[in-house]
Formats: sequence, structure tokens, C-alpha cells
Amino acid sequence: MSVLTSVHSGTLRPLDPRRDLLPVSDLIETCFFSTMDEEGREYLTHIRRAGHDSHYVQWLSGSGERVAYPLHGYVWVQDNRVVGNVTLIPHQRDGQWIYLIANVAVHPDYRRLGIGRALTQRGIQHARDHRVSALWLQVRDDNPSAEELYRSLGFETQAVRSNWRLPSYSTPPTAPASPVLITPSRNSDWPEQLRFFNHTYPADIRWNLPLVPERFRPGMLASLSRWMNGEVIHQWAARLENRYLGAATLDGSGHKLDFLWLALDPESEEQAAPSLLAAVLHRRGGHRGILLNYPAQRLDAAFQQAGFALQNTLTWMKLPQNVLYPTSATFSLNRT
Ligand SMILES: CC(C)(COP(=O)(O)OP(=O)(O)OC[C@H]1O[C@@H](n2cnc3c(N)ncnc32)[C@H](O)[C@@H]1OP(=O)(O)O)[C@@H](O)C(=O)NCCC(=O)NCCS
Repeated sequence: MSVLTSVHSGTLRPLDPRRDLLPVSDLIETCFFSTMDEEGREYLTHIRRAGHDSHYVQWLSGSGERVAYPLHGYVWVQDNRVVGNVTLIPHQRDGQWIYLIANVAVHPDYRRLGIGRALTQRGIQHARDHRVSALWLQVRDDNPSAEELYRSLGFETQAVRSNWRLPSYSTPPTAPASPVLITPSRNSDWPEQLRFFNHTYPADIRWNLPLVPERFRPGMLASLSRWMNGEVIHQWAARLENRYLGAATLDGSGHKLDFLWLALDPESEEQAAPSLLAAVLHRRGGHRGILLNYPAQRLDAAFQQAGFALQNTLTWMKLPQNVLYPTSATFSLNRT
């Protein structure tokens, strides 16, 4: 029987941690190997380790999906093997549940048969059944076929953002000749800094970034509270003739990497960024790698000049509320 005819006899069922973790990790490796970064490889190792740990798997099987991140979803089984997967990752923000569809993967031997569409549709239905407040996914900008699949199901682009990475132990860049002055952040900067933060990292997308700007409030009291919580945060401001151009915040609370957040006036970011990046990289202590998330196609030259490499550019897509929760009967899913 050919794959094409037998696909209709395939089964779409919930992922069962007791038997699916290892085949799903193999499938994810097959489908994403060429684009997988270090965190992706760690994630795979984590799933595999879990797959070999019978006590953990037992606990996972009985736990609710909102505690056992990130191993929930559905698989497609065909010819007695797992050939498709979709993962659903819950995030809680302000008391609401936002779900992320991830790891949509179909084995190369079974593609263009409708399996990817069926899995994504099941993910949508799952989110609907759980009355989530929003459903998102992220797709690399060099994956137009997957983007086309999501668009055909109603997902719409909300943002396109790049992840930049500075390797550990990299040499700081030469400071450019520039009239921009770099100083410590001041209390009085905060309202402007917060405004620029909100512009660069809009509230709508912040649920999926390790960023809570209020943690970066300057001032003695805030610094003391950070110190007591063991948080390591350094901030610098860029100024030009007493005009505030924005700030850079280096947040050392990442597991292995630091995060760098830029809250810059969009009008002058090209001017501020080179001096600010050079100052941050010269003045920081330690040599850990740095991750930086920024709107795509902005400040690319400045980041490269400072030694950052583009890790990926992701299109953030969201299912509009009227598609997630259609009020009329005209929208129906082809459930398998
Ligand atoms: C993306 C992927 C999951 C699609 O799975 P699939 O089972 O082949 O997809 P389907 O057969 O359900 O196709 C659904 C739609 O996707 C689009 N599509 C899928 N593959 C395509 C391709 N190679 N070229 C163009 N369009 C494609 C088409 O719009 C297609 O609809 P159509 O068949 O009516 O034209 C699969 O190619 C895959 O696993 N890729 C590697 C992992 C990956 O990139 N996942 C997405 C991460 S965001």
C-alpha cells in the first residue's frame, strides 16, 4: 500500500509520555536538525532523559498539562510509527492562559499528505476546548511553506523579530568616534525608558520573552531589592547634549546566558546603539554569552559590528479571536 493511500488509516491521538517521548524526540531531531541551536539540543536531551526515566514519565502521565511543561500535544501514528507531532506550550500571563503551538513536525517520508494541517487543526481545537485567551506560534522567516500552512488556517502575523547572540569570551568592539555620551541610568530616565521599552517590546508579545521591565527601575531602593533577590542587573543610558536617547539593560538572571534589552528612542537608535553596545561590552563583568531580541531588520549593522551573530528571525503569528472562537457556525474544523 502506498503512503498516499495509507495516510487515511493513520491515527491522530494525544501524546502519551509513557511511549512517545523517545520517538517524538527522534522526529523533532529529524525535522529541525539543520536549524537547531544549543537550546534546541538541550531541549531534546531533556525530552530524551525524561523518556528514559520511568518515575518521571509516570508522574507526567498523571499531571495536568499546565504543570508539566513542555511535553503535551498530539502525535500522528502511521504504519505503527510516530510520523507527526504538535506540541502545546501553556504560558500564564496576568491570570490568563496563552498557548503556543510548537514542534509541528512531519517525517519527510509522509509530507504533503495533510498530516501537518491535521495536527495544527487539532492544536487549535485543543486551545479552544481549554478556553485559552490567545493562541500563538512562531515560524522562521526562511520557512515559507510552514507559514503558508498557518496562514491558511487563519493565523496572522503580529511581529517579526530577530534573536541575536554574542558568543562567550568575545572581544568587545572598538568604541566608535561619536558625540553620544554613555552614563549610568538615572531615576529621572525611567518614564522615558519605560516608554521606549513598551515600544520595542510591546506588551502583546512580552508573554513569551523573559522580560518584566518593572524589574529594571533605576534608583537605590530598586537596586537594594534586586540585590536582596540575588538579581544581577546593569544599566547604562545614552545621551546627546542632555537629550536622553535610551538605555541598555544587561540582565544576568539567565541560566547560562545574559539577556540584553535595548530601550531606545526609535528616532535616534541608529546613532545611540553603536556607542551603547560598545560601552556595555567593555564595562560588563564576566564573559558569558548574551542573547538579544529586537524587531527584525533594525540595527543589524550595529549588532554585527558589536560581534553579535544572527541566530534566527521569527515571525510571531496569532490566531484572531474570531477564528479561535467563531460566533457563527460558518467556521468548522476538519477534525480527524
Ligand atoms: C511544515 C510541515 C509540518 C508541513 O507538514 P505536511 O504534513 O507536509 O503539511 P500538509 O501536507 O498538511 O500541507 C499543508 C499546507 O502547508 C503548505 N506546505 C506544506 N509543505 C509545503 C511545501 N513543501 N511547499 C509549499 N507549501 C507547502 C501548503 O500550503 C499545504 O497545503 P496544500 O497541500 O493544500 O498546498 C513539514 O514540512 C515539516 O515537518 N517541516 C519541517 C519542520 C518544520 O519546519 N515545521 C514547522 C515549524 S514552524
